[in-house]
Amino acid sequence: MTNLLPTERQAWRRTDDHSPGAARLKLVTEPLPRELAPTAVLIQVHAVSLNWRDANITNGGNPWPVIPNGIICNDAAGEVLAIGQNVRRVRVGDRVAPTNDTEYLTHRSTGRSWVAANEDGVLATYIVYDEAVLGHLPTYLSWESAALIPCAGVTAWAALKDVGIGKIVLIQGTGGVSSWALKLARASGLKVILTSSSDEKLEHMKKIFGAPEIQTINYKTTPDWHEKVLKLTDGIGVDLVIENGGASSLVKSLKCTRRGGIVSQVGYLGKQQPDNLQELVPTIIDRRVILRQVTSENDSADVVTDISFPGALTAARLNTWMTSPPL
Ligand SMILES: NC(=O)c1ccc[n+]([C@@H]2O[C@H](COP(=O)([O-])OP(=O)(O)OC[C@H]3O[C@@H](n4cnc5c(N)ncnc54)[C@H](OP(=O)(O)O)[C@@H]3O)[C@@H](O)[C@H]2O)c1
Repeated sequence: MTNLLPTERQAWRRTDDHSPGAARLKLVTEPLPRELAPTAVLIQVHAVSLNWRDANITNGGNPWPVIPNGIICNDAAGEVLAIGQNVRRVRVGDRVAPTNDTEYLTHRSTGRSWVAANEDGVLATYIVYDEAVLGHLPTYLSWESAALIPCAGVTAWAALKDVGIGKIVLIQGTGGVSSWALKLARASGLKVILTSSSDEKLEHMKKIFGAPEIQTINYKTTPDWHEKVLKLTDGIGVDLVIENGGASSLVKSLKCTRRGGIVSQVGYLGKQQPDNLQELVPTIIDRRVILRQVTSENDSADVVTDISFPGALTAARLNTWMTSPPL
């Protein structure tokens, strides 16, 4: 198949120039490999979604290492155009996306290579990956909807893992990961308490999701929002928190989680001041809470299987949510 390879691609690369007014990105045309390695896969990118992380990396705010002038974005949906001679897991025409950490493929992997940080990202016309890091995407979704799965979708799915029907989850904010979590939580029969800095967004979400009504808290106008969460749960706390603030909100999140519950640490959107973490250890011990980071190597395959299975989370329902009017 390698004789069909395009010879070049266009890609958006970071300039790494953070001076005021300077362009942060540049569009480049660059050659593609003339031949595919035995297990390599050439993918035509059809859609890329933007995450908070992409802007943060481009603006120089990533707390972990990034390669110089890397290609941005890590959420893509693409079509296999050509495969190396030993590729077995994917075929030409398959719809695929690379996983977010191409070195974390088993729980015993010690390396880390985050797409768009430790290595190039996916905002390019063509990308080449080893078959081992590719996951299949559902065929019923548009390219645009499918491109929301690998980072935001998988993160939300993994963050919600291990809570059963009827349990209560606290979802912080109305961004990409949280919107996904909200959709998955509702489809799974979970009760939701949603926070936002905007009453307008909270009303919008209540309207979209209908009955039973989502319970909401504005975390800006209610700085002690964790107390309100406790009130809404008869003083017990929620079963799981999708934690987005990081150091600024973690202790409060732990305080409003029921004993033995789970806090899934997803984001670090608030100010990361160590002072806010002084009560961390005593609170974890007192609440007997499981604090965890979220994604693992098998999650991509699991989430795609789950959202593809005709059941509570049907394709039609997912599509309806995904095409809800933007805020
Ligand atoms: N761990 C992982 O594997 C993983 C994967 C994906 C993303 N992330 C991280 O998750 C976070 C969210 O990513 P995203 O792509 O969903 O971002 P996003 O789409 O930009 O959403 C951000 C939203 O979060 C809410 N928010 C902002 N500051 C907050 C705070 N201090 N406390 C609570 N909520 C706050 C806001 O919601 P309102 O406007 O409603 O107030 C904001 O709109 C980022 O830190 C990102 O790096 C981690």
